[in-house]
Amino acid sequence: MEKEEIIKVDTTVKAWLSEARDNVLRKMDNRLEVDTKSGRKDLVTNIDKANERFLVSKIRQFDSEAKILGEEGSGDEVRNTDGRVWIIDPIDGTMNFVKQRNHFAIMISLYEDGEGILGYILDVINNELVSGGPSVGVTINGHRMEEVPDTPLKDGLIGLSGPMVLNDNYHMQEIAHTSMGMRIYGSAGIEMISVFKGEQVGYISYLKPWDFGAGRIIAETLGMKITSIDGKPLGVLLSNAVLLATKNAHQDILTIVKK
Ligand code: IPD
Ligand code: CA
Ligand code: CA
Repeated sequence: MEKEEIIKVDTTVKAWLSEARDNVLRKMDNRLEVDTKSGRKDLVTNIDKANERFLVSKIRQFDSEAKILGEEGSGDEVRNTDGRVWIIDPIDGTMNFVKQRNHFAIMISLYEDGEGILGYILDVINNELVSGGPSVGVTINGHRMEEVPDTPLKDGLIGLSGPMVLNDNYHMQEIAHTSMGMRIYGSAGIEMISVFKGEQVGYISYLKPWDFGAGRIIAETLGMKITSIDGKPLGVLLSNAVLLATKNAHQDILTIVKK
């Protein structure tokens, strides 16, 4: 895609997100309809579903040839990364949304032939939008974000997945001990914003394509590393244990994981 077109897309997506945010805020004080998916801790609400339908319909009107991968299934069955692929997580951190009405995000990303074009992570309650991509750079609410300092693991906080720490997957407890402290926010999007702002040196969790699609594009544009937990490149459509970190912390964590 040409830069001029990417800028047009960017303006359009920001308008959708602003409308999506208004919709969520307006509806979230009403009683939520909450269903479980794979188990009692895997929730979906009427607002997750409605927000995905809203975003899918906006994308279909704007870019009818593209494929859409939506977490809640109102998009397409996407089998490969050919052409333009939009990825939607309508509410990231649904458990937080249900229990706290806070600390959740809306995430959208756009890939073309497997290359990241634009990524969006909106912290709904703080109204903080981190977005961008390789051709337009990264901004937070319109202000340019600079590359974060390349802090090592021992000098920073690390965001981790609760279950991975409890099960000590990939020596997660040693990673936590080596850092200055661990944080568990319960939303991949909120964790990633925190990494991009330099508040944490990294984040590790089992993630699906809609959990890391936007964050991956933003991370790489900001000069950070995002790979699978064993250091391999991420497949756009694959689920993985994902490691996002500054270059130094990424190396420190791989050394512990590979012990
Ligand atoms: C979940 C959250 C959570 C992460 C899970 C995700 P959802 O997303 O981002 O922090 O640990 O792996 O599935 O299901 O609330 O969109
Ligand atoms: Ca998610
Ligand atoms: Ca979700």
